[in-house]
Amino acid sequence: MKESTVGIMGGTFDPIHYGHLILAEYVLNEMNLDKIIFIPSGTPHLKSYKKVSTKKNRLKMTELGIKNNNNFKISTIEIDREGNTYTIDTIKELNKKYTDTLFYFIIGADSLFDLLKWKDIEKLFDICNFIVANRGGTYSLNELQDRIKLLTNEYNAYIKLVNIPDIQISSSDIRNRIKQNKSIKYLLPGDVEKYIYKNKLYVNNEYNNELIKKELKKHIDTKRYNHTLGVEKTAVALAKIHDIDISKANVAALLHDCAKNISNNKKIDLCKKYNIELKIEEKKNPDLVHAKVGSVIAKHIYNINDSDIINAIAYHTTGRPNMSELEKVIYISDYIEPGRTKANNLDNIRKLARKDLDKALLAILEDTIAYLQSKNKIIDTLTIEAYEFYKLHNNTLSNE
Ligand SMILES: [Fe+2]
Ligand SMILES: [Fe+2]
Repeated sequence: MKESTVGIMGGTFDPIHYGHLILAEYVLNEMNLDKIIFIPSGTPHLKSYKKVSTKKNRLKMTELGIKNNNNFKISTIEIDREGNTYTIDTIKELNKKYTDTLFYFIIGADSLFDLLKWKDIEKLFDICNFIVANRGGTYSLNELQDRIKLLTNEYNAYIKLVNIPDIQISSSDIRNRIKQNKSIKYLLPGDVEKYIYKNKLYVNNEYNNELIKKELKKHIDTKRYNHTLGVEKTAVALAKIHDIDISKANVAALLHDCAKNISNNKKIDLCKKYNIELKIEEKKNPDLVHAKVGSVIAKHIYNINDSDIINAIAYHTTGRPNMSELEKVIYISDYIEPGRTKANNLDNIRKLARKDLDKALLAILEDTIAYLQSKNKIIDTLTIEAYEFYKLHNNTLSNE
């Protein structure tokens, strides 16, 4: 019989915030555990294109975050290990060290559906229990319970569901707020907040742009690469003017044409692989597909998991109604970057873009449709819908 029960909270904790702490406190109470151990991850293997704070900073912030709770402890087991971090290795090591302790690994609802892909998962089910912290949202209670039943029956897994309040705080939101000089008060413990400001964390770019550029150069030709640098420069400038996340604008600009030089056959293959449905106009003109294919490459090869960035890449050729500010910036920058010289009206649109993104967007959509019509080329339905949307939108605004 194991003497003590301990929950394990793994994570990057970049930074730790009240969402993590409330979750841990709920699990501790609902499952009647003796304590929760926070284990900041080592160097995450999936995030090489994304910068992560140093181990030292993440460890220090986690220490500060948990210090007022006697039931919360910290372990450097993953921080101390070199290379990739796998849960199986962590649990094995903990089991060896604490023979009288029963460990419960805490995961989110999304991970429950990913578990079977984890390294040595069957072995992991043997040596560790799981707790699914359910915030509500993507999955219904029935779906979660069915999944748990399946894993319990087929793999003899022990998995318990704990409902926790849906607190919408995320580390990435906190980092963005810092870049935009917005307050992060009440989102995380005051000492962590102080540490962040004192050490000037999160003020710089989130992505490893130099590494991305190095990789890009291998896959696009020089002309495309120079165009990409032009889009980067323009997008960053527009993001600054219009108070949009600069890191996101930068990385979306860099990757927007990452699929441009892939052959049409390969593009079609990639669409099949990633279940991208092709419209008739795209099948007729596979060059249009480079935006969608680019978005899946950004997601799966460059490990970008921010949906706004992914959408900005996916819709940079067609536009669409109700675009996010980031989507607008990428769409516009692609059209007006300094290397572009052929389109009519460029000077005017460049000026408009600095003043009003919606007006610049409408002007580009209008010119694009007129150009495609004059050349008897197919116009994507999304482009027409976007045009109608922004025409109405801009009229409504000017009538107010
Ligand atoms: Fe493009
Ligand atoms: Fe482009």
